[in-house]
Amino acid sequence: MLGRRHQGRRRPRRDHTVALREAEHGLAFEKRLDELGFGVLERPDPKHAKRMKIASSTKLSDREKFDRLGLARAPVNGSADIFDRFFENKDIDPQTGGLLGRYIAEERDTGRRLAACYAALAAPKAKRKKAA
Ligand SMILES: [Fe+2]
Repeated sequence: MLGRRHQGRRRPRRDHTVALREAEHGLAFEKRLDELGFGVLERPDPKHAKRMKIASSTKLSDREKFDRLGLARAPVNGSADIFDRFFENKDIDPQTGGLLGRYIAEERDTGRRLAACYAALAAPKAKRKKAA
């Protein structure tokens, strides 16, 4: 599936990688829950409509969207994030632990990729200032 779509490209786009990951994370966790005999509980995100309004805005710049969605900062070693407490549960089985570890590493990598996109959006303004 991906091979044909990306033929001729040296690397997939960062945003496409992030979109694929997000889709896969949902399926991987649903699969693991199913294997453990559970299902997914629907918990609608109360901020979903607000976030979609920001993301689909035709008035906001991409840079403003990153700022408003809180996607402009890369994870920093030594500072806490929402993933730090995932392994406080000492009885996680190895298969679930492996899935969680991969998920956390990918989420943090996604944070770095999005921060790099944000930095690239900011670059043209900085160049203009230097030229002026
Ligand atoms: Fe994700």
